[in-house]
Amino acid sequence: MPFTIAHVSDLHVSGFGDTLHDRARMTRRSARVAGAGEAAFETCWEEAGWRVLRARARKRGEIVLVDPDGYRHPVPPASAGGGVDPVERAASRACVLEARRSAVLASSPPEGGALAQMLDRTPENVNLRCLRAARVVAEADVDAVFLTGDCTDDGEGWELVETAFARFQERGRLFPIPGNHDLYLFPIASSARPRPTHASKRALWRDVAARCGLAVEPCGAWKRLIPEGDAIVVGLDSCARRQRAFFRQNGAIGPEQLAWLRELGKTPEWKDARHRVVLCHHHVVPLAVGFGKRAPTEIGMRLDDARAFGEALNDVGATIVMHGHRHVSERRQPAGHDFDLFAAPSLTLGCKSGDAPSFWRVEIDHRVHADRVRIPVEAVEQENDPGTEPPPPMAME
Ligand SMILES: [Fe+2]
Ligand SMILES: [Fe+2]
Repeated sequence: MPFTIAHVSDLHVSGFGDTLHDRARMTRRSARVAGAGEAAFETCWEEAGWRVLRARARKRGEIVLVDPDGYRHPVPPASAGGGVDPVERAASRACVLEARRSAVLASSPPEGGALAQMLDRTPENVNLRCLRAARVVAEADVDAVFLTGDCTDDGEGWELVETAFARFQERGRLFPIPGNHDLYLFPIASSARPRPTHASKRALWRDVAARCGLAVEPCGAWKRLIPEGDAIVVGLDSCARRQRAFFRQNGAIGPEQLAWLRELGKTPEWKDARHRVVLCHHHVVPLAVGFGKRAPTEIGMRLDDARAFGEALNDVGATIVMHGHRHVSERRQPAGHDFDLFAAPSLTLGCKSGDAPSFWRVEIDHRVHADRVRIPVEAVEQENDPGTEPPPPMAME
């Protein structure tokens, strides 16, 4: 029986299921807790910690929506539908958002029918897409899940990732690494509150790694033997280096992890394993997104020490390298290297080629056999957030 891996990447889950990749649908809320000045308002609706407030006389009845954490959200205008009563529209907005919060979905994941109904209304919601995709992974009869980073969109929502793949995590068979979205900061504000910092993001990642039973070395790497697959797997942190500037998402494996990998390469546990698997988030070679198309720009995106990393992978004799980041699904053996290279697209946002979201189902025994498994996506129009214009595209895989 082969040992079977699901290589999954770039889930981009978030507090409300919105993503920096789709700014037209981002959930907008105040940067600070709304507290001050609330005496001027009266509560006219309240549920699950959400409140709709109406300003007392002097403010002409202004309606305000406040979430359970105390941040203000805009009330949809009447032109967006949902009736003439602003209180009703605000309450309806609260219900839609609450049902899609990562913490709510993680504590009580909806069953198949309910999930399909929610996806009908908001098919682009990444939190819902994550749950749907994880069910496809579970049905693919795999022994382990390798998650190659960007598990979250801005450091928020790890609990949903853990719930979605709980059956693997419980057996010590969920192997995540962090990506730039999990650890680095962005010039555009997401809906994550309080606003994340490098320290807060890294602390959350460390907690998740510990709950997955992974012992992260001081250099940022972890390793695990998988005897039933005659394999050893290594997870590297391609964001271990401090972010150089907030608008740069370049990664690096760094000299410490490369030295660690080379040392590991001398040990019997590495050399005796038939399959020597290395996971990292950033891509190691430029990836085109279709026939006749060039690889998209790598400015602010690339792995700065890809060449040194490639040499180290050759020297230690890695047999399989898996990464995410570019949201491209591809398998190749790069020129000059003998390892199988797997690039997994976003499991929720799809492949830059225009292909549906997918993951790699990889069987390892005396050979490596891989199939691309697509996630079915219904073509249903989503309600846009009211009053927002789609912004220009921005590279930030
Ligand atoms: Fe990324
Ligand atoms: Fe990504």
